[in-house]
Amino acid sequence: METLVTFYTESGNTEKLAMAIFEGIDETEKEIRPIKQVSSVDDYNLIFCGFPVQSHSVPAKVEAFIKRIPRGKNVAFFATHGSLRGGKLAVTAFHYALILASHLIVLGTFGCRGRVKEKIIDELLRKAEHKAWAEEAQSAAEHPDATDLEEGKEWAKWMVARAHSHRS
Ligand SMILES: Cc1cc2nc3c(=O)[nH]c(=O)nc-3n(C[C@H](O)[C@H](O)[C@H](O)COP(=O)(O)O)c2cc1C
Repeated sequence: METLVTFYTESGNTEKLAMAIFEGIDETEKEIRPIKQVSSVDDYNLIFCGFPVQSHSVPAKVEAFIKRIPRGKNVAFFATHGSLRGGKLAVTAFHYALILASHLIVLGTFGCRGRVKEKIIDELLRKAEHKAWAEEAQSAAEHPDATDLEEGKEWAKWMVARAHSHRS
């Protein structure tokens, strides 16, 4: 099964997670590349699509990419975020990704925390719309850590198994 892992990243956290996910995929036909280098996804049966949560949402470039994926494709979303894992502030972005992907088959989602530079946190703490997640992000400095990456890898295996069972 041809599998693509694609991602958008600004400071490398989501790329780290993408690489762990890629390692976890036990398929011979697999590729990894940044979203900006993907011109067509026609040949893939499963697309892992990753992004950093930005302003409680999906970055615009990723939004445009999701909308372009042909109807009925299998996708799995992963994200890194400064706010707490599984928390309301991170989950909102996944909910939005699910709305964008209403024409697709979403097999699952995976999120973990990602470091935000202290200087940026200090700036964002002063802005009302960013304060809540920026406060939580103060304790994300060590992420994604080895456990996050291992869990991402395991999740990737699970998504591949789901994609296979979906085809039969
Ligand atoms: C401008 C900006 C906005 C962000 N907005 C959020 C947010 O709303 N919620 C959140 O949990 N993290 C937010 N973050 C933190 C990033 O999602 C986190 O650091 C992520 O791991 C960055 O991934 P990257 O290194 O792949 O770009 C924001 C970071 C920046 C710089």
